[in-house]
Amino acid sequence: MSLAARLQTELDQFQRDGVYKRLNYLASPQAARVQMEGRGEVVILSSNNYLGLCNTPEVVAAGKQALDLFGAGTGSVRFICGTFTIHRDLEQALARFVGCESALTYVSCWNANEGLCPTLLGEQDIVISDQLNHASIIDAVRLAKTITKCQTAVYRHSDMADLEEKLKASHGARLRLVFTDGVFSMEGDIARLADILELAKKYDAVVAIDDSHATGALGKTGRGTAEHCGVLGDVDIITSTLGKALGGAAGGFTAGAAALTDYLTQRSRPQLFSNALPPTVAASALAAVRHAAAHPELVTRLHANAKYFREQLRALGAAGPRAGALPAVGGAQPRRHGFCARRIQESRGAVGSDLSLGALPESGKLSPLSRH
Ligand SMILES: Cc1ncc(COP(=O)(O)O)c(C=O)c1O
Repeated sequence: MSLAARLQTELDQFQRDGVYKRLNYLASPQAARVQMEGRGEVVILSSNNYLGLCNTPEVVAAGKQALDLFGAGTGSVRFICGTFTIHRDLEQALARFVGCESALTYVSCWNANEGLCPTLLGEQDIVISDQLNHASIIDAVRLAKTITKCQTAVYRHSDMADLEEKLKASHGARLRLVFTDGVFSMEGDIARLADILELAKKYDAVVAIDDSHATGALGKTGRGTAEHCGVLGDVDIITSTLGKALGGAAGGFTAGAAALTDYLTQRSRPQLFSNALPPTVAASALAAVRHAAAHPELVTRLHANAKYFREQLRALGAAGPRAGALPAVGGAQPRRHGFCARRIQESRGAVGSDLSLGALPESGKLSPLSRH
């Protein structure tokens, strides 16, 4: 059987299993309402454009200006001659925004996670990971294990007793790195960050969180999970994306101590052997961070919209038990709770996600935005 024929057989099976993904093509900028090919104008309840910055005039204008100022691309990896002043400006702004000493950008948060684990962890070290962590953390841990032979352990989702067991059992490791999502977007819940930090202190471990769904969206002023949990400035390592609340274009970053980002600059392979963010994207992201910092009312409105949305879902008998835990994201699992989200959304001209991922065969996420 040819490769194409074999792949087609598998694709046919995806269709029969109801897990085949069809792409929705937008013919307008990402916003609260978009033009969707074949559907006309719809209300979007499935984007991560939490603050509406994808199409905010200053954010778009900053990208255009950077195109004139810096050109289209970097033409080099960073350490040779591919770092522009706009990268430094962005990294300083990101560090300030998330309450860390320093930040280093990558072309995606996926890249940031994969740049972190294999670089920090060696054979004498262990990474202890939440069971429901994002795929990019899982793959980063697998990569680290393969490359460096580091030890790995998984604790039950948000189960502090189990995390403590794993920390006790790893006594003697040089580095114990606890890695968790800040917001588990498919579950609709938030990491118990204050408890995790307390345990880390007790067992002399280091904490890394991937705050992709929280940066810009969670906490009173959008500083993320640490702000929400009252521990801003206390997290050792934060990775996050620029592809959601912060302008939504692309890019990710790792924030922490200056020695950490310097070390990653020296040693993390995606930094060393892959180009940096295009200057246009970096400039739009910088404008997005500045806009988010200057407009906390966008976050306030996002939280109010999410609260209203959850209340209305509950009134329809739709929200799952966890949905109420999340101030910024209306994380609901409609089908799991006997509620056909797709039918209700589409009958009202709205589009939410109805994800069919291997790990969560019957989940969906509904995200109200600041601009709804
Ligand atoms: C928790 C988490 N980490 C990482 C990513 C990947 O982000 P990026 O698109 O910047 O690679 C996502 C995106 O869905 C995410 O939700």
